[in-house]
Amino acid sequence: METQIRKLDYKAIDMDVIAEAGKVVREGGLAAFPTETVYGLGGDALNPASSEKIYAAKGRPSDNPLIVHIADREDVYRIAAQVSEQAKRLMEAFWPGPLTLIFPKKPLVPDKTTGGLSTVAVRMPSDEIARAFIRAAGGFVAAPSANVSGRPSTTTAAHVAEDLSGRIEMILDGGQAVIGLESAIVDVSEEKPVILRPGVVTRAMMEAVIGPMETDLAVTAPDSGIKPKAPGMKYRHYAPRAELTIVEGETEAVTAQVNRLTAEAERKGKRVGIIATDETADRYERGLVKSLGARQHEEEISRHLFEVLRSFDETEVDCIYSESFENAAIGQALMNRLLKAAGHRVIRV
Ligand code: TXA
Ligand code: MG
Repeated sequence: METQIRKLDYKAIDMDVIAEAGKVVREGGLAAFPTETVYGLGGDALNPASSEKIYAAKGRPSDNPLIVHIADREDVYRIAAQVSEQAKRLMEAFWPGPLTLIFPKKPLVPDKTTGGLSTVAVRMPSDEIARAFIRAAGGFVAAPSANVSGRPSTTTAAHVAEDLSGRIEMILDGGQAVIGLESAIVDVSEEKPVILRPGVVTRAMMEAVIGPMETDLAVTAPDSGIKPKAPGMKYRHYAPRAELTIVEGETEAVTAQVNRLTAEAERKGKRVGIIATDETADRYERGLVKSLGARQHEEEISRHLFEVLRSFDETEVDCIYSESFENAAIGQALMNRLLKAAGHRVIRV
């Protein structure tokens, strides 16, 4: 199959292209599309055959449920059997935006889409192209991140093409995703809301709206054997091909340690990659240094994480050392992804 790539401009979204992508999905095909978080791989959420195609295209285990994307708030009531007061307040505060909520599902949503679960994950993205596309596609678009299972999520159309070209009908190109990390996921299907995946909508932001929340233990625990409530969180994720290690501590100590580790690895004939920031990049004496951006602009750091992880795969490095970002406000989301990519390998200095 030849994958059509269509460029779109946010200032004047070409509705003919949107209609074409919508038709692909309504007819049972797949189209990738931009969202404010990462690119999504979209299929008709109400068609079990489409969900099967999504799993096949990604090489994803089919017990890992898909998020259903909607364009209009009221549409949640067509697929959720129950919407709690707390859920309503979260929707009011953060939709459209990078927050996914989990509800008990109505029978209209096929088991194939929810990986056999009795709940359904729903997200209303703020991205204008995404919402226009969702409407054109019939209103309910199942979409995981548009990457091959296990690889970093995609933040540009070129990354989507790298992973999925030849496996899907179309890619809508909306340029670089502004957030670059996937949505926060909160389970509101039971009485106590639980954070299953941290995102740029932080726990503090949500607690300001609905009061105390819990975080699923599996989010922070390394290989604790705790079964995560979001099935996808159990899989190895975001992993670059080279072995990634995070070096944590005061900046001076971190750069010195990375320089030492790099020299040592190079002596053994290994090639080294370094994930740095604008503030530190020129302190590294050797290795292939890539900056995520300025530490003081944490949105910039988040936006570039997956892109930089991916770009190391095009190089010959054998191991990668990364700085740590524990202090940022969205640090929990960022560190959650970085720790997964590193398989929780951390050196403290
Ligand atoms: O920002 C995002 O959320 C992106 C864009 C495309 O919207 N999507 C995304 O989807 O990250 P995906 O499939 O890569 O991650 C969805 C996560 C998985 O870990 C999955 O297990 C979990 O959500 N999930 C989906 N439905 C669930 C449910 N009913 N109960 C618990 N976890 C669920
Ligand atoms: Mg994903």
